[in-house]
Amino acid sequence: MSSVSFSKVGVVGLGTMGAGIAEVLARGELPVVGIEIDAAALERGRGHLEKSTGRAVKRGRLTEDAQREILGRVTLSTDFGDLADCDLVIEAVPERLDLKRRVFAELDRVCRPDAVLATNTSSLSVTEIAVATERPTKIVGVHFFNPAPVMKLVEVIGTVLTEDGAVGRVAGLVEALGKIPVTVGDRAGFVANRLLFGYLGQAVTMLESGHATRDDIDTAMTKGGGLPMGPFTLMDLIGLDTCLGVLDAIYEESRDRRHAPSPLLRELVTAGLLGRKTGRGFYDYAGAEAAIPHQAGPVPSVAVVGDGPLPALVTDAAGDEPGAADLVVVTGDAAVPGGLKPGTIIAITGPVLERAVASDRAADVVGLRFAELDAPLAEITTTAVTADATAARAAELLAGLGLTPVRCRDRAGAIVDALRFPYLNDAAAMLGAAYADADAIDAAMKYGCGYPTGPIADLDRLGLSRAVTTLRALHTETRDPSLAPTPLLEEYATANRPLR
Ligand SMILES: NC(=O)c1ccc[n+]([C@@H]2O[C@H](COP(=O)([O-])OP(=O)(O)OC[C@H]3O[C@@H](n4cnc5c(N)ncnc54)[C@H](O)[C@@H]3O)[C@@H](O)[C@H]2O)c1
Repeated sequence: MSSVSFSKVGVVGLGTMGAGIAEVLARGELPVVGIEIDAAALERGRGHLEKSTGRAVKRGRLTEDAQREILGRVTLSTDFGDLADCDLVIEAVPERLDLKRRVFAELDRVCRPDAVLATNTSSLSVTEIAVATERPTKIVGVHFFNPAPVMKLVEVIGTVLTEDGAVGRVAGLVEALGKIPVTVGDRAGFVANRLLFGYLGQAVTMLESGHATRDDIDTAMTKGGGLPMGPFTLMDLIGLDTCLGVLDAIYEESRDRRHAPSPLLRELVTAGLLGRKTGRGFYDYAGAEAAIPHQAGPVPSVAVVGDGPLPALVTDAAGDEPGAADLVVVTGDAAVPGGLKPGTIIAITGPVLERAVASDRAADVVGLRFAELDAPLAEITTTAVTADATAARAAELLAGLGLTPVRCRDRAGAIVDALRFPYLNDAAAMLGAAYADADAIDAAMKYGCGYPTGPIADLDRLGLSRAVTTLRALHTETRDPSLAPTPLLEEYATANRPLR
Protein backbone atom coordinates (compact mmCIF):
# COMPACT_ATOMS: atom_id res chain seq x y z
CA MET A 1 0.00 0.00 0.00
CA SER A 2 3.02 2.31 -0.31
CA SER A 3 1.56 4.18 -3.32
CA VAL A 4 -1.48 5.16 -1.28
CA SER A 5 -1.56 8.80 -0.28
CA PHE A 6 -3.82 8.28 2.74
CA SER A 7 -2.50 6.95 6.04
CA LYS A 8 -5.63 6.69 8.20
CA VAL A 9 -9.23 6.53 7.06
CA GLY A 10 -12.47 7.20 8.92
CA VAL A 11 -15.82 5.60 8.10
CA VAL A 12 -19.01 7.19 9.43
CA GLY A 13 -22.00 4.85 9.71
CA LEU A 14 -21.25 1.13 10.01
CA GLY A 15 -24.41 -0.23 8.44
CA THR A 16 -24.58 -2.40 5.32
CA MET A 17 -22.20 -0.24 3.32
CA GLY A 18 -20.01 1.40 5.98
CA ALA A 19 -19.07 -1.90 7.63
CA GLY A 20 -18.21 -3.35 4.22
CA ILE A 21 -16.12 -0.30 3.30
CA ALA A 22 -14.30 -0.43 6.67
CA GLU A 23 -13.51 -4.09 5.99
CA VAL A 24 -12.15 -3.32 2.51
CA LEU A 25 -9.89 -0.59 3.93
CA ALA A 26 -8.65 -2.76 6.80
CA ARG A 27 -7.98 -5.64 4.41
CA GLY A 28 -5.88 -3.10 2.50
CA GLU A 29 -3.77 -2.70 5.65
CA LEU A 30 -4.99 0.80 6.47
CA PRO A 31 -5.83 1.84 10.03
CA VAL A 32 -9.56 2.63 10.16
CA VAL A 33 -11.70 4.62 12.60
CA GLY A 34 -15.34 3.51 12.47
CA ILE A 35 -17.94 5.94 13.86
CA GLU A 36 -21.54 5.17 14.80
CA ILE A 37 -24.35 7.20 16.25
CA ASP A 38 -24.62 5.40 19.61
CA ALA A 39 -23.30 2.41 21.52
CA ALA A 40 -25.98 0.02 20.31
CA ALA A 41 -25.37 0.92 16.65
CA LEU A 42 -21.63 0.56 17.26
CA GLU A 43 -22.17 -2.99 18.54
CA ARG A 44 -24.23 -3.78 15.44
CA GLY A 45 -21.40 -2.37 13.31
CA ARG A 46 -18.87 -4.58 15.16
CA GLY A 47 -21.22 -7.51 14.53
CA HIS A 48 -21.31 -6.79 10.75
CA LEU A 49 -17.51 -6.72 10.62
CA GLU A 50 -17.08 -9.92 12.65
CA LYS A 51 -19.75 -11.79 10.70
CA SER A 52 -18.46 -10.79 7.28
CA THR A 53 -14.81 -11.63 8.02
CA GLY A 54 -15.94 -14.75 9.93
CA ARG A 55 -17.73 -15.97 6.79
CA ALA A 56 -14.49 -15.54 4.84
CA VAL A 57 -12.66 -17.64 7.46
CA LYS A 58 -15.30 -20.39 7.25
CA ARG A 59 -14.99 -20.45 3.46
CA GLY A 60 -11.22 -20.78 3.77
CA ARG A 61 -10.59 -17.40 2.13
CA LEU A 62 -9.06 -15.86 5.25
CA THR A 63 -7.00 -17.31 8.11
CA GLU A 64 -8.05 -16.64 11.70
CA ASP A 65 -4.81 -14.69 12.20
CA ALA A 66 -5.57 -12.49 9.20
CA GLN A 67 -9.11 -11.93 10.48
CA ARG A 68 -7.70 -10.84 13.86
CA GLU A 69 -5.32 -8.44 12.13
CA ILE A 70 -8.10 -6.94 9.99
CA LEU A 71 -10.40 -6.42 12.97
CA GLY A 72 -7.45 -5.08 14.97
CA ARG A 73 -6.95 -2.29 12.46
CA VAL A 74 -10.49 -0.95 13.03
CA THR A 75 -11.00 1.36 16.02
CA LEU A 76 -14.67 1.78 16.89
CA SER A 77 -16.07 4.93 18.47
CA THR A 78 -19.14 7.12 18.88
CA ASP A 79 -17.00 10.26 19.14
CA PHE A 80 -16.50 12.22 15.89
CA GLY A 81 -13.44 13.76 17.60
CA ASP A 82 -11.62 10.45 17.04
CA LEU A 83 -11.51 11.32 13.32
CA ALA A 84 -9.17 14.26 14.01
CA ASP A 85 -6.05 12.59 12.61
CA CYS A 86 -7.66 10.85 9.60
CA ASP A 87 -6.68 12.18 6.19
CA LEU A 88 -9.73 10.65 4.48
CA VAL A 89 -13.22 10.10 5.90
CA ILE A 90 -15.92 8.15 4.04
CA GLU A 91 -19.51 8.83 5.08
CA ALA A 92 -22.08 6.00 4.78
CA VAL A 93 -25.10 7.18 6.82
CA PRO A 94 -28.67 6.78 5.49
CA GLU A 95 -29.56 8.40 2.15
CA ARG A 96 -31.03 11.70 3.39
CA LEU A 97 -29.62 15.01 2.25
CA ASP A 98 -30.35 16.87 5.51
CA LEU A 99 -28.60 14.15 7.54
CA LYS A 100 -25.59 13.99 5.22
CA ARG A 101 -25.23 17.78 5.23
CA ARG A 102 -25.29 17.73 9.06
CA VAL A 103 -22.70 14.97 9.22
CA PHE A 104 -20.44 16.81 6.74
CA ALA A 105 -20.68 20.07 8.69
CA GLU A 106 -19.55 18.13 11.78
CA LEU A 107 -16.75 16.38 9.87
CA ASP A 108 -15.62 19.76 8.57
CA ARG A 109 -15.38 20.96 12.18
CA VAL A 110 -13.44 17.98 13.61
CA CYS A 111 -11.21 16.84 10.72
CA ARG A 112 -7.78 18.15 9.71
CA PRO A 113 -8.12 21.01 7.21
CA ASP A 114 -6.29 18.98 4.56
CA ALA A 115 -8.44 15.85 5.02
CA VAL A 116 -10.51 14.68 2.05
CA LEU A 117 -14.16 13.99 2.92
CA ALA A 118 -16.08 11.49 0.79
CA THR A 119 -19.73 10.47 0.58
CA ASN A 120 -20.97 7.04 -0.42
CA THR A 121 -24.30 8.45 -1.60
CA SER A 122 -26.03 6.51 -4.40
CA SER A 123 -28.09 9.30 -5.85
CA LEU A 124 -27.85 12.56 -3.89
CA SER A 125 -25.93 15.53 -5.26
CA VAL A 126 -22.32 15.50 -4.05
CA THR A 127 -22.21 19.23 -4.81
CA GLU A 128 -25.11 19.92 -2.43
CA ILE A 129 -23.23 18.03 0.29
CA ALA A 130 -19.96 19.84 -0.54
CA VAL A 131 -21.45 23.29 -0.10
CA ALA A 132 -22.48 22.41 3.47
CA THR A 133 -18.76 22.54 4.36
CA GLU A 134 -16.06 25.19 4.44
CA ARG A 135 -13.87 22.94 2.27
CA PRO A 136 -15.88 22.13 -0.87
CA THR A 137 -12.62 21.64 -2.79
CA LYS A 138 -11.92 18.53 -0.70
CA ILE A 139 -15.31 16.84 -1.07
CA VAL A 140 -15.69 13.84 -3.39
CA GLY A 141 -18.12 11.01 -3.93
CA VAL A 142 -16.88 7.44 -3.52
CA HIS A 143 -19.69 5.12 -4.50
CA PHE A 144 -19.09 1.51 -3.45
CA PHE A 145 -21.55 -1.20 -4.48
CA ASN A 146 -23.19 -3.76 -2.22
CA PRO A 147 -21.60 -5.95 -0.88
CA ALA A 148 -18.55 -3.68 -0.74
CA PRO A 149 -15.99 -6.45 -0.01
CA VAL A 150 -17.14 -8.34 -3.14
CA MET A 151 -18.18 -5.80 -5.76
CA LYS A 152 -15.28 -4.52 -7.86
CA LEU A 153 -16.67 -1.20 -9.07
CA VAL A 154 -16.24 2.07 -7.20
CA GLU A 155 -17.45 5.28 -8.86
CA VAL A 156 -15.30 8.22 -7.80
CA ILE A 157 -17.12 11.51 -8.22
CA GLY A 158 -15.62 14.97 -8.49
CA THR A 159 -17.79 18.11 -8.50
CA VAL A 160 -17.05 21.41 -10.25
CA LEU A 161 -15.65 22.55 -6.89
CA THR A 162 -13.34 19.58 -6.22
CA GLU A 163 -9.64 20.48 -6.42
CA ASP A 164 -7.34 18.79 -8.90
CA GLY A 165 -5.75 15.85 -7.22
CA ALA A 166 -8.43 14.87 -4.67
CA VAL A 167 -10.30 12.65 -7.14
CA GLY A 168 -7.05 11.14 -8.39
CA ARG A 169 -5.85 10.39 -4.86
CA VAL A 170 -9.11 8.64 -3.98
CA ALA A 171 -9.14 6.73 -7.29
CA GLY A 172 -5.54 5.68 -6.54
CA LEU A 173 -6.61 4.35 -3.13
CA VAL A 174 -9.56 2.48 -4.68
CA GLU A 175 -7.22 0.84 -7.18
CA ALA A 176 -4.70 -0.08 -4.46
CA LEU A 177 -7.57 -1.76 -2.59
CA GLY A 178 -8.03 -4.08 -5.60
CA LYS A 179 -11.14 -2.34 -6.93
CA ILE A 180 -11.92 -0.76 -10.30
CA PRO A 181 -12.35 3.02 -10.01
CA VAL A 182 -14.45 4.86 -12.58
CA THR A 183 -14.07 8.62 -12.36
CA VAL A 184 -17.11 10.68 -13.32
CA GLY A 185 -18.84 14.02 -12.70
CA ASP A 186 -21.72 14.77 -10.35
CA ARG A 187 -24.93 13.70 -12.16
CA ALA A 188 -27.81 11.97 -10.38
CA GLY A 189 -27.21 8.22 -10.36
CA PHE A 190 -23.67 8.61 -11.78
CA VAL A 191 -23.12 5.99 -14.50
CA ALA A 192 -24.32 2.65 -13.17
CA ASN A 193 -27.52 3.64 -11.35
CA ARG A 194 -28.45 6.18 -14.01
CA LEU A 195 -28.36 3.46 -16.68
CA LEU A 196 -29.71 0.63 -14.53
CA PHE A 197 -32.66 2.50 -13.05
CA GLY A 198 -33.86 3.90 -16.38
CA TYR A 199 -34.24 0.29 -17.47
CA LEU A 200 -35.78 -0.89 -14.17
CA GLY A 201 -38.27 1.97 -14.14
CA GLN A 202 -39.27 1.22 -17.72
CA ALA A 203 -39.79 -2.47 -16.85
CA VAL A 204 -42.30 -1.51 -14.15
CA THR A 205 -44.15 0.76 -16.58
CA MET A 206 -44.20 -2.10 -19.10
CA LEU A 207 -45.77 -4.39 -16.49
CA GLU A 208 -48.27 -1.77 -15.37
CA SER A 209 -49.38 -1.09 -18.96
CA GLY A 210 -50.30 -4.75 -19.42
CA HIS A 211 -47.76 -5.19 -22.24
CA ALA A 212 -46.39 -8.38 -20.65
CA THR A 213 -46.45 -10.21 -17.32
CA ARG A 214 -43.84 -10.00 -14.57
CA ASP A 215 -42.64 -13.53 -15.26
CA ASP A 216 -42.46 -13.07 -19.01
CA ILE A 217 -40.46 -9.84 -18.66
CA ASP A 218 -38.03 -11.47 -16.21
CA THR A 219 -37.69 -14.55 -18.41
CA ALA A 220 -37.20 -12.47 -21.55
CA MET A 221 -34.36 -10.46 -20.03
CA THR A 222 -32.51 -13.51 -18.72
CA LYS A 223 -33.05 -15.93 -21.62
CA GLY A 224 -32.96 -13.39 -24.44
CA GLY A 225 -31.22 -10.35 -22.93
CA GLY A 226 -28.42 -12.43 -21.39
CA LEU A 227 -28.77 -10.85 -17.93
CA PRO A 228 -28.07 -12.77 -14.72
CA MET A 229 -31.54 -11.87 -13.37
CA GLY A 230 -34.69 -10.19 -14.59
CA PRO A 231 -35.68 -6.65 -13.57
CA PHE A 232 -38.36 -7.64 -11.02
CA THR A 233 -36.12 -10.20 -9.31
CA LEU A 234 -33.39 -7.55 -9.17
CA MET A 235 -35.65 -4.81 -7.78
CA ASP A 236 -36.91 -7.19 -5.07
CA LEU A 237 -33.27 -7.85 -4.15
CA ILE A 238 -32.29 -4.16 -4.08
CA GLY A 239 -35.42 -3.26 -2.05
CA LEU A 240 -38.36 -1.42 -3.61
CA ASP A 241 -38.01 1.53 -1.20
CA THR A 242 -34.41 2.00 -2.34
CA CYS A 243 -35.52 1.71 -5.99
CA LEU A 244 -38.20 4.34 -5.43
CA GLY A 245 -35.73 6.70 -3.72
CA VAL A 246 -33.13 6.34 -6.47
CA LEU A 247 -35.72 6.83 -9.25
CA ASP A 248 -37.16 9.91 -7.52
CA ALA A 249 -33.66 11.41 -7.15
CA ILE A 250 -32.72 10.72 -10.77
CA TYR A 251 -36.07 12.03 -12.07
CA GLU A 252 -35.59 15.22 -10.07
CA GLU A 253 -32.57 15.95 -12.25
CA SER A 254 -33.35 14.26 -15.58
CA ARG A 255 -37.09 15.04 -15.89
CA ASP A 256 -37.14 11.98 -18.13
CA ARG A 257 -40.46 10.20 -17.73
CA ARG A 258 -38.71 6.82 -17.74
CA HIS A 259 -37.19 7.80 -14.38
CA ALA A 260 -40.56 8.87 -12.94
CA PRO A 261 -41.45 5.98 -10.62
CA SER A 262 -44.46 4.07 -11.87
CA PRO A 263 -47.54 4.31 -9.59
CA LEU A 264 -47.29 0.54 -9.13
CA LEU A 265 -43.85 0.86 -7.51
CA ARG A 266 -45.06 3.60 -5.18
CA GLU A 267 -48.09 1.51 -4.28
CA LEU A 268 -45.98 -1.50 -3.33
CA VAL A 269 -43.69 0.66 -1.18
CA THR A 270 -46.64 2.34 0.56
CA ALA A 271 -48.07 -1.11 1.28
CA GLY A 272 -44.77 -2.14 2.89
CA LEU A 273 -44.07 -4.73 0.21
CA LEU A 274 -40.39 -3.89 -0.18
CA GLY A 275 -39.04 -7.06 -1.77
CA ARG A 276 -37.00 -9.87 -0.29
CA LYS A 277 -36.32 -8.08 2.98
CA THR A 278 -40.04 -8.00 3.85
CA GLY A 279 -40.89 -11.33 2.23
CA ARG A 280 -42.91 -9.83 -0.61
CA GLY A 281 -42.43 -7.29 -3.38
CA PHE A 282 -43.06 -8.05 -7.03
CA TYR A 283 -42.72 -11.69 -5.98
CA ASP A 284 -44.01 -13.42 -2.86
CA TYR A 285 -41.18 -15.16 -1.00
CA ALA A 286 -43.45 -16.92 1.48
CA GLY A 287 -43.03 -20.11 -0.51
CA ALA A 288 -46.55 -20.22 -1.89
CA GLU A 289 -45.48 -19.02 -5.29
CA ALA A 290 -43.79 -21.32 -7.74
CA ALA A 291 -43.13 -20.56 -11.37
CA ILE A 292 -45.28 -22.67 -13.67
CA PRO A 293 -43.03 -23.89 -16.46
CA HIS A 294 -44.41 -23.80 -19.98
CA GLN A 295 -45.72 -27.21 -20.89
CA ALA A 296 -43.58 -28.46 -23.72
CA GLY A 297 -45.72 -30.62 -25.97
CA PRO A 298 -44.39 -33.17 -28.45
CA VAL A 299 -42.12 -31.84 -31.22
CA PRO A 300 -44.53 -30.19 -33.68
CA SER A 301 -44.38 -30.35 -37.45
CA VAL A 302 -43.03 -27.06 -38.75
CA ALA A 303 -43.03 -25.32 -42.12
CA VAL A 304 -40.98 -22.24 -42.90
CA VAL A 305 -42.05 -19.80 -45.63
CA GLY A 306 -39.64 -17.04 -46.75
CA ASP A 307 -35.92 -16.63 -46.31
CA GLY A 308 -35.51 -14.54 -43.15
CA PRO A 309 -33.00 -15.57 -40.44
CA LEU A 310 -34.24 -18.08 -37.86
CA PRO A 311 -32.62 -19.95 -34.94
CA ALA A 312 -31.33 -23.44 -35.62
CA LEU A 313 -33.97 -24.89 -33.27
CA VAL A 314 -36.61 -23.76 -35.79
CA THR A 315 -34.80 -24.45 -39.09
CA ASP A 316 -33.69 -27.91 -37.92
CA ALA A 317 -37.31 -28.87 -37.25
CA ALA A 318 -38.65 -27.34 -40.47
CA GLY A 319 -39.32 -29.29 -43.66
CA ASP A 320 -43.00 -29.99 -43.67
CA GLU A 321 -45.40 -28.60 -46.26
CA PRO A 322 -47.40 -25.64 -44.89
CA GLY A 323 -50.65 -27.50 -45.55
CA ALA A 324 -49.57 -30.32 -43.21
CA ALA A 325 -47.80 -28.30 -40.48
CA ASP A 326 -48.90 -27.49 -36.91
CA LEU A 327 -46.77 -24.33 -37.02
CA VAL A 328 -46.09 -22.20 -40.10
CA VAL A 329 -43.31 -19.67 -39.63
CA VAL A 330 -43.53 -16.81 -42.13
CA THR A 331 -40.26 -14.87 -42.51
CA GLY A 332 -38.84 -12.09 -44.67
CA ASP A 333 -41.42 -10.48 -46.97
CA ALA A 334 -43.41 -13.68 -47.52
CA ALA A 335 -47.21 -13.65 -47.27
CA VAL A 336 -49.25 -16.09 -45.19
CA PRO A 337 -49.78 -19.12 -47.48
CA GLY A 338 -53.27 -20.38 -48.23
CA GLY A 339 -54.59 -23.92 -47.84
CA LEU A 340 -53.55 -24.40 -44.20
CA LYS A 341 -55.31 -27.04 -42.13
CA PRO A 342 -57.60 -25.94 -39.29
CA GLY A 343 -55.71 -25.41 -36.01
CA THR A 344 -52.42 -24.46 -37.67
CA ILE A 345 -50.68 -21.57 -35.91
CA ILE A 346 -49.07 -18.95 -38.13
CA ALA A 347 -46.08 -17.05 -36.68
CA ILE A 348 -44.76 -14.04 -38.60
CA THR A 349 -41.27 -12.74 -37.82
CA GLY A 350 -41.62 -9.27 -39.41
CA PRO A 351 -44.46 -6.73 -39.19
CA VAL A 352 -47.53 -8.75 -38.27
CA LEU A 353 -50.85 -7.00 -38.38
CA GLU A 354 -51.15 -6.14 -42.08
CA ARG A 355 -50.25 -9.65 -43.18
CA ALA A 356 -52.54 -11.18 -40.57
CA VAL A 357 -55.48 -9.11 -41.73
CA ALA A 358 -54.67 -9.80 -45.42
CA SER A 359 -54.79 -13.54 -44.76
CA ASP A 360 -58.02 -15.47 -44.19
CA ARG A 361 -56.63 -16.73 -40.85
CA ALA A 362 -56.04 -13.50 -38.87
CA ALA A 363 -57.17 -15.01 -35.54
CA ASP A 364 -54.51 -17.76 -35.85
CA VAL A 365 -51.61 -15.36 -36.44
CA VAL A 366 -49.02 -14.24 -33.88
CA GLY A 367 -45.79 -12.31 -34.26
CA LEU A 368 -42.54 -14.10 -33.47
CA ARG A 369 -39.27 -12.42 -32.52
CA PHE A 370 -35.85 -13.67 -31.63
CA ALA A 371 -33.81 -11.10 -29.72
CA GLU A 372 -30.70 -13.21 -30.42
CA LEU A 373 -30.64 -16.03 -32.94
CA ASP A 374 -28.48 -18.17 -30.66
CA ALA A 375 -30.52 -17.56 -27.49
CA PRO A 376 -33.35 -19.93 -26.54
CA LEU A 377 -35.97 -17.18 -26.21
CA ALA A 378 -39.00 -16.84 -28.50
CA GLU A 379 -41.09 -13.69 -28.05
CA ILE A 380 -44.69 -14.22 -29.15
CA THR A 381 -46.58 -11.04 -29.89
CA THR A 382 -50.34 -10.80 -30.14
CA THR A 383 -52.39 -8.28 -32.12
CA ALA A 384 -55.92 -6.98 -31.71
CA VAL A 385 -57.16 -9.77 -33.99
CA THR A 386 -55.26 -12.71 -32.43
CA ALA A 387 -57.67 -15.20 -30.81
CA ASP A 388 -57.14 -15.77 -27.07
CA ALA A 389 -56.16 -19.42 -27.47
CA THR A 390 -53.70 -18.78 -30.32
CA ALA A 391 -50.83 -17.37 -28.21
CA ALA A 392 -51.09 -20.23 -25.70
CA ARG A 393 -50.99 -22.79 -28.50
CA ALA A 394 -48.06 -20.97 -30.15
CA ALA A 395 -46.19 -21.08 -26.81
CA GLU A 396 -46.81 -24.81 -26.52
CA LEU A 397 -45.55 -25.48 -30.07
CA LEU A 398 -42.42 -23.32 -29.64
CA ALA A 399 -41.67 -24.97 -26.28
CA GLY A 400 -41.90 -28.28 -28.17
CA LEU A 401 -39.00 -27.05 -30.31
CA GLY A 402 -36.89 -26.44 -27.19
CA LEU A 403 -37.45 -22.67 -27.10
CA THR A 404 -38.57 -20.67 -24.05
CA PRO A 405 -41.69 -18.74 -25.09
CA VAL A 406 -42.82 -15.43 -23.59
CA ARG A 407 -45.80 -13.36 -24.65
CA CYS A 408 -46.50 -9.68 -25.09
CA ARG A 409 -48.55 -7.26 -27.17
CA ASP A 410 -47.41 -6.49 -30.72
CA ARG A 411 -45.39 -3.36 -30.01
CA ALA A 412 -42.01 -2.10 -31.22
CA GLY A 413 -39.17 -4.14 -29.77
CA ALA A 414 -41.44 -6.72 -28.05
CA ILE A 415 -39.90 -7.13 -24.56
CA VAL A 416 -36.11 -7.51 -24.90
CA ASP A 417 -35.40 -4.85 -27.52
CA ALA A 418 -37.98 -2.45 -26.07
CA LEU A 419 -36.11 -2.56 -22.76
CA ARG A 420 -32.50 -2.87 -23.87
CA PHE A 421 -32.27 -0.32 -26.69
CA PRO A 422 -33.43 2.66 -24.58
CA TYR A 423 -30.82 1.63 -21.99
CA LEU A 424 -28.15 1.37 -24.70
CA ASN A 425 -29.30 4.72 -26.10
CA ASP A 426 -28.81 6.29 -22.64
CA ALA A 427 -25.27 4.88 -22.55
CA ALA A 428 -24.54 6.31 -26.01
CA ALA A 429 -25.94 9.67 -24.85
CA MET A 430 -23.51 9.64 -21.88
CA LEU A 431 -20.70 9.00 -24.33
CA GLY A 432 -21.95 11.74 -26.65
CA ALA A 433 -22.09 14.22 -23.75
CA ALA A 434 -18.52 13.22 -22.76
CA TYR A 435 -19.83 12.42 -19.26
CA ALA A 436 -17.85 9.17 -19.22
CA ASP A 437 -15.76 7.32 -21.78
CA ALA A 438 -16.60 3.94 -23.31
CA ASP A 439 -14.33 1.99 -20.93
CA ALA A 440 -15.81 3.70 -17.86
CA ILE A 441 -19.40 3.08 -19.01
CA ASP A 442 -18.76 -0.57 -19.83
CA ALA A 443 -16.83 -1.13 -16.57
CA ALA A 444 -19.63 0.48 -14.54
CA MET A 445 -22.27 -1.94 -15.86
CA LYS A 446 -20.03 -5.02 -15.76
CA TYR A 447 -18.47 -4.53 -12.35
CA GLY A 448 -21.23 -2.53 -10.63
CA CYS A 449 -24.34 -4.30 -11.93
CA GLY A 450 -23.08 -7.74 -12.97
CA TYR A 451 -23.89 -7.30 -16.67
CA PRO A 452 -22.00 -9.84 -18.78
CA THR A 453 -20.93 -7.09 -21.21
CA GLY A 454 -21.00 -3.30 -21.12
CA PRO A 455 -23.52 -1.27 -23.14
CA ILE A 456 -21.02 0.26 -25.58
CA ALA A 457 -19.66 -3.19 -26.41
CA ASP A 458 -23.27 -4.42 -26.70
CA LEU A 459 -24.16 -1.67 -29.16
CA ASP A 460 -21.22 -2.57 -31.37
CA ARG A 461 -22.14 -6.27 -31.19
CA LEU A 462 -25.83 -5.75 -31.97
CA GLY A 463 -25.13 -3.17 -34.67
CA LEU A 464 -25.81 0.55 -34.59
CA SER A 465 -28.24 0.49 -37.50
CA ARG A 466 -30.39 -2.07 -35.65
CA ALA A 467 -30.26 0.19 -32.58
CA VAL A 468 -31.30 3.24 -34.59
CA THR A 469 -34.12 1.38 -36.39
CA THR A 470 -35.52 -0.03 -33.14
CA LEU A 471 -35.27 3.28 -31.30
CA ARG A 472 -36.98 5.12 -34.17
CA ALA A 473 -39.81 2.59 -34.06
CA LEU A 474 -40.11 2.97 -30.27
CA HIS A 475 -40.07 6.74 -30.60
CA THR A 476 -42.68 6.75 -33.38
CA GLU A 477 -44.95 4.51 -31.33
CA THR A 478 -44.66 6.36 -28.00
CA ARG A 479 -43.57 9.88 -29.06
CA ASP A 480 -41.38 9.76 -25.95
CA PRO A 481 -38.50 12.15 -26.79
CA SER A 482 -36.00 10.17 -24.71
CA LEU A 483 -36.51 7.15 -26.99
CA ALA A 484 -35.34 8.93 -30.13
CA PRO A 485 -31.87 7.70 -31.12
CA THR A 486 -29.22 9.95 -29.61
CA PRO A 487 -27.27 11.99 -32.23
CA LEU A 488 -24.07 10.02 -31.62
CA LEU A 489 -25.83 6.76 -32.56
CA GLU A 490 -27.36 8.31 -35.67
CA GLU A 491 -23.97 9.68 -36.68
CA TYR A 492 -22.00 6.46 -36.20
CA ALA A 493 -24.76 4.33 -37.75
CA THR A 494 -24.75 6.60 -40.83
CA ALA A 495 -20.95 6.50 -40.98
CA ASN A 496 -21.22 2.71 -40.66
CA ARG A 497 -18.53 2.49 -38.01
CA PRO A 498 -18.60 1.03 -34.49
CA LEU A 499 -18.46 3.21 -31.37
CA ARG A 500 -15.03 1.84 -30.44
N1 LIG B 1 -27.30 -0.59 0.65
C1 LIG B 1 -26.87 -0.48 -0.60
O1 LIG B 1 -27.07 -1.35 -1.44
C2 LIG B 1 -26.07 0.74 -1.00
C3 LIG B 1 -25.21 0.66 -2.11
C4 LIG B 1 -24.43 1.76 -2.45
C5 LIG B 1 -24.54 2.92 -1.71
N2 LIG B 1 -25.40 2.99 -0.66
C6 LIG B 1 -25.45 4.24 0.10
O2 LIG B 1 -24.69 4.07 1.29
C7 LIG B 1 -25.24 4.86 2.33
C8 LIG B 1 -25.54 3.98 3.53
O3 LIG B 1 -26.47 2.98 3.15
P1 LIG B 1 -26.63 1.63 3.98
O4 LIG B 1 -27.46 0.73 3.14
O5 LIG B 1 -25.31 1.15 4.47
O6 LIG B 1 -27.50 2.15 5.23
P2 LIG B 1 -27.70 1.46 6.64
O7 LIG B 1 -28.98 1.97 7.17
O8 LIG B 1 -27.47 0.00 6.57
O9 LIG B 1 -26.50 2.09 7.52
C9 LIG B 1 -26.43 3.42 7.91
C10 LIG B 1 -25.71 3.49 9.24
O10 LIG B 1 -25.49 4.85 9.57
C11 LIG B 1 -25.65 5.01 10.97
N3 LIG B 1 -25.92 6.41 11.27
C12 LIG B 1 -27.08 7.09 11.13
N4 LIG B 1 -26.92 8.37 11.50
C13 LIG B 1 -25.62 8.50 11.88
C14 LIG B 1 -24.85 9.57 12.36
N5 LIG B 1 -25.37 10.79 12.52
N6 LIG B 1 -23.55 9.34 12.65
C15 LIG B 1 -23.00 8.13 12.50
N7 LIG B 1 -23.68 7.07 12.04
C16 LIG B 1 -24.98 7.25 11.72
C17 LIG B 1 -26.80 4.09 11.31
O11 LIG B 1 -26.79 3.74 12.69
C18 LIG B 1 -26.52 2.89 10.40
O12 LIG B 1 -25.74 1.90 11.03
C19 LIG B 1 -26.47 5.55 1.74
O13 LIG B 1 -26.10 6.82 1.27
C20 LIG B 1 -26.82 4.66 0.57
O14 LIG B 1 -27.50 5.35 -0.46
C21 LIG B 1 -26.15 1.92 -0.27
